[in-house]
Amino acid sequence: MNLEPTNPELNRKADKQLRESVQKLRTELTDHNYRYYLLDAPSITDTEYDQKLRELERLEGMLGEPVPADSPTQTVGAPPNHVFESREHASPLLSLANAFNDDAVRDFDHRIREIVDDPFHYIAEPKIDGLAVNLRYESGELTIAATRGDGKVGEDVTDNIRTISDIPWHLDGNDIPELLEVRGEVFMSKNSFKSLNEVQERAGEKPFANPRNAAAGSLRQLDPKVTAARKLSFFAYGSGEGGDALADSQSRLLTRLASMGFGTQVFELLPDIDALLANYRSWQEKRQTLAYEIDGLVYKIDSIELQKEVGSVARAPRWAIAYKFPAEEVETTVERIIWQVGRTGVITPVAEMRPVKVAGVMVSRATLHNIQELQRKDVREGDTVVIRRAGDVIPEVVRVVAVDGERAPIITAPGLCPVCGSHVEQSDAEVAIRCSGGLSCSAQLKERLKHFVSRGAMDIEGM
Ligand code: IVH
Repeated sequence: MNLEPTNPELNRKADKQLRESVQKLRTELTDHNYRYYLLDAPSITDTEYDQKLRELERLEGMLGEPVPADSPTQTVGAPPNHVFESREHASPLLSLANAFNDDAVRDFDHRIREIVDDPFHYIAEPKIDGLAVNLRYESGELTIAATRGDGKVGEDVTDNIRTISDIPWHLDGNDIPELLEVRGEVFMSKNSFKSLNEVQERAGEKPFANPRNAAAGSLRQLDPKVTAARKLSFFAYGSGEGGDALADSQSRLLTRLASMGFGTQVFELLPDIDALLANYRSWQEKRQTLAYEIDGLVYKIDSIELQKEVGSVARAPRWAIAYKFPAEEVETTVERIIWQVGRTGVITPVAEMRPVKVAGVMVSRATLHNIQELQRKDVREGDTVVIRRAGDVIPEVVRVVAVDGERAPIITAPGLCPVCGSHVEQSDAEVAIRCSGGLSCSAQLKERLKHFVSRGAMDIEGM
């Protein structure tokens, strides 16, 4: 045990640093939420996002103070844009905790078994890569459809939702609750995505990076005719208000929703963690045979009563987990390493590579994040590297494949901005290096202008 008297000066400093780190992570994660949910243009991988979120949770725990309700650890998604009318959800639309390896899923199972003694079943459902919507039916008629938004308030997209042929305007069958909310995922099939991108390219428009972005962009169109032309699909996976009366288990809920006219996905009931892990493995191949993209499997406790017993934490239920597929990895060679100057002056190393297809998209540039990462991975020009695209985001260099023979020199950080020649600065608090040129740097000026006119800011079309 350390019996040294505590130094109040040091404590104050540590506390200040802790607060600064928490604030920085909150701002950063809010920005990523905004990019992911509103701009449909994420800039970091799901794994990186998850790591940052967990780090924030850890630091908030160290602070030992109540966590503000708007911290990214307490919210889901991003607040809605103001183009569509806002709709408050009758009960929040939760998110799912992610797992990226077996250990995390075993932990999930242990946590549940600490609460539940009796045997129970998990239900396995594919995790569709689209966007969540809440459909409100009154007397069996569709009245309001809203996006998830930040989980509490979403955007009213009723007119656009009515153009999706998978979504019934009237519910089939008897005993339909007076008020019923159905929840599910709007998505785009692989074929519709391919044809849409062909159309985009013929029209000289930028193709969508993946079906998820295409679905999100298509649903949030101001003109429903545009949405109608985009061929969106829908699967129901749950219920909100009024859902309790429908079924006592998730599997029976899915069957009931199918009988009302909704598309639902295949599901499987699993007695224990071994069956669950075997189910996950079986999907790694099977996923290719589906007409749409899935990014993992969702495992939920089947019994609704047990779900209630296990309960939820701020953003996600404790009775469900999303076990994500690993990102696809591909080998290529680095032709050049360049330094890219961003909007805020941050200078990022980028590998320009021999073009290769990763997760369905041709890729010729990958981020190396920052100088520390670049030096840790020791990437050099001419190297053969493994790159990956996790989900929707920009590709990254994972590692160098064993190299023999002479290599190009080690890359070092530039002392001057590669664009404007101003001095490069690095603060103690961050790993990033920055150009000190401000608006006199043409790269910063261009990026700031692009940001200013973008959809999330002034939304100026046709610059
Ligand atoms: S259940 C309270 N089941 O994944 C549980 N979600 O990352 C809420 N998703 O917001 C969700 N397929 O948009 C559930 N079979 C499935 C799903 C699914 C895709 C989406 C959903 C959710 C997100 C969380």
